[in-house]
Amino acid sequence: MNRLLSALAAAILLTAAPLSAQQPDNRPVYLDPDAPIEERVEDALSRMTLREKIAIIHAQSKFSAPGAPRLGIAELWCTDGPHGIRPEVMWDEWDQARWTNDSCIAYPALTCLAATWNRDCAQLYGISIGEEARYREKDVLLGPGVNIYRTPLCGRNFEYMGEDPYLASEMVVPYVQGVQSQGVAACVKHYALNNEEQHRHTVDVDLSDRALYEIYLPAFKAAVTEGDAWSIMGSYNKYRGTYACHNHRLLIDILKGEWGFDGAVISDWGGVHSTEEAIHNGLDLEFGTWTDGLREGASNAYDTYYMAAPYLEMIERGEVGTEELDDKVRRVLRLTFRTAMNNDKPYGAMCSEAHSETARTIAEEGIVLLKNERDNLPIAADAKRILVVGENAIKMMTVGGGSSSLKVKYECSPLDGLRAYYAGRAEVAFARGYVGDVTGNYNGVVTGQDLRDKRSPKRLIEEAVEMAQSADHVIFVGGLNKSDNQDCEGTDRKGLELPYNQNDVIEALAAVTDNLTVVFVSGNAVAMPWIDEVESVVQLWYSGSEAGNALARVLSGEVNPSGKLPFTFGRKLDDYMAHANGAKFPNPKKVFYHDDIFVGYRGFEERDIEPLFAFGHGLSYTTFEYSDLKLTSREIEANASVQQASVTITNTGNRPGKEIVQLYVADPEASVARPKKELKGFAKVELQPGESTTVTFTITPEHLAFYDEIKGGWHVEAGEFRVIIGASAADVRLEESFVVK
Ligand code: GLC
Repeated sequence: MNRLLSALAAAILLTAAPLSAQQPDNRPVYLDPDAPIEERVEDALSRMTLREKIAIIHAQSKFSAPGAPRLGIAELWCTDGPHGIRPEVMWDEWDQARWTNDSCIAYPALTCLAATWNRDCAQLYGISIGEEARYREKDVLLGPGVNIYRTPLCGRNFEYMGEDPYLASEMVVPYVQGVQSQGVAACVKHYALNNEEQHRHTVDVDLSDRALYEIYLPAFKAAVTEGDAWSIMGSYNKYRGTYACHNHRLLIDILKGEWGFDGAVISDWGGVHSTEEAIHNGLDLEFGTWTDGLREGASNAYDTYYMAAPYLEMIERGEVGTEELDDKVRRVLRLTFRTAMNNDKPYGAMCSEAHSETARTIAEEGIVLLKNERDNLPIAADAKRILVVGENAIKMMTVGGGSSSLKVKYECSPLDGLRAYYAGRAEVAFARGYVGDVTGNYNGVVTGQDLRDKRSPKRLIEEAVEMAQSADHVIFVGGLNKSDNQDCEGTDRKGLELPYNQNDVIEALAAVTDNLTVVFVSGNAVAMPWIDEVESVVQLWYSGSEAGNALARVLSGEVNPSGKLPFTFGRKLDDYMAHANGAKFPNPKKVFYHDDIFVGYRGFEERDIEPLFAFGHGLSYTTFEYSDLKLTSREIEANASVQQASVTITNTGNRPGKEIVQLYVADPEASVARPKKELKGFAKVELQPGESTTVTFTITPEHLAFYDEIKGGWHVEAGEFRVIIGASAADVRLEESFVVK
């Protein structure tokens, strides 16, 4: 008996003995959930085995990474997209999980948000979409996208914030802060130089350092250094021969070196192509490498990821140490403690009234009144018969277009919104006008609309024209849509022209009515050969769940439009510097950005090309006067930042309105080629009729500097500078100059 007891005692002692080195420590890592994150990171790292470290840096499913279950480190769940929370998909597939409680509110696309030029809207947007992500228990929102609008043919421009690095920088920061206030990480994408879609997986981009630093990086830099973004998504394309998802210069030298990024670099889905490069060039989390979890051999297919078994085997063969691995794990743990294991994150909200109101408010602020002759808008109060023409008045736009596609709780179309608004006040008739894309499904989400129509284009125009004869106001709703070669991920547009036979419909309507408003649902510039025959043009963007209500309130005059363009509308494609001299587009292999820093208005002004509608252009139902531009000093030291410019804005019309005042800087004496002017400040002010306000801008050395490729840094040259105040890039109101000593 004694032997038995002593053996038992020994056994108990053994298990109670301090764990030997080779046994992992099983105590939970969240001993003190309120400890500083860095302590929690080091604590967790010290307890993880090599295999657990390898597991945590790559996906376990289409949109999740495994964490470390043994230690209570939570999984990390990602979700698209920048405009709303994507419906749940299968564990290993893009196909729908067919949940019935994952419909969302679709906010306006980011071109619309950029068009508000309202930093408060950007923050409200981030908070609202962050709440929906949090409610859906997602930890990383795969957005916003801030790739620069280099060409009007890029299929994903609708997801981004326009052609100007300063505007995109100013709008991305509050969005990121808003999302992250909900305990959800923003994942700013696609870093970097993802400016075309067709060959995004293969195109190898090169460009000058000036163009890189002055045009393509600023919005990412602002998101990191001012917005404190917790994650960044590497893009598919190459930069100077190396894939962006493991590009040493972009990720190690610039992002983590110069900008001090402490978050996690997440690959685009399938953007990883090399274990060696992923290890050494700064990738932290691998997603979407091709596997459906089933076809890749007997073992768990996720083990075949570049940063999975191949990495572990390199370590075990002594070909690489674990220093890089520990850095990746620290970043993934930090991301996890900021989100999934953030102990005081809010609970979120889904499809709330507040979210509907956010969607509508942002759409109303982002709608741009491009043209309005003879006060054709707002629609006359005594209008009794309104005719709406065009497929885009009825076609759902929240489904399709790529990874930003959504399953919405509802989508109020332009026709729905106008009918609801004018119910009991005026009859709102509809004519199809043209047939474009009758499909309506993406990844298994269906619109349920049957848009098929047997009538010929000629018949459709005849019917619309006939109905237009007896209408007090005609609203044509067209533009682009989310099908291939329009506003759609993975493809690019083939030209600037409106698709289908929309131009014929518009011209036919213009011939029979003097009250024609053309409304565009699109995320890109389009050519308008009929512009002189049309009284009003309105850019509605893709405005999401509340599009129709926002449009109706603007066209009726209930809301005074206040949006301005975040990119230039050219008259023809080669007006854009990227397409000058017949440059090839899209590029399957190498492309050098010969347009350099002359992107958007910078390029139009460099070549004195008059745009159809300028960057920063947008009208109001009232008028504004600019006066009294004053500078605090005529001469400043190169490194001073005391220069301030103040300007007075007056509402000289008879109704309240908001105006976006833009401040541009010019450096006419530069030793290097510089744009004729560059946006370096803006403010949106709301004024009652007759009311004035003074706006003050602080001009800092950063606003005056150019990126000096020789010195490899920003440089302010002595000499004359000009402060240009404009209502748009083409509508300069006031100008003053000063000297930098
Ligand atoms: C897509 C997109 C990216 C998206 C990701 C996940 O290919 O490029 O924006 O977030 O894959 O869907």
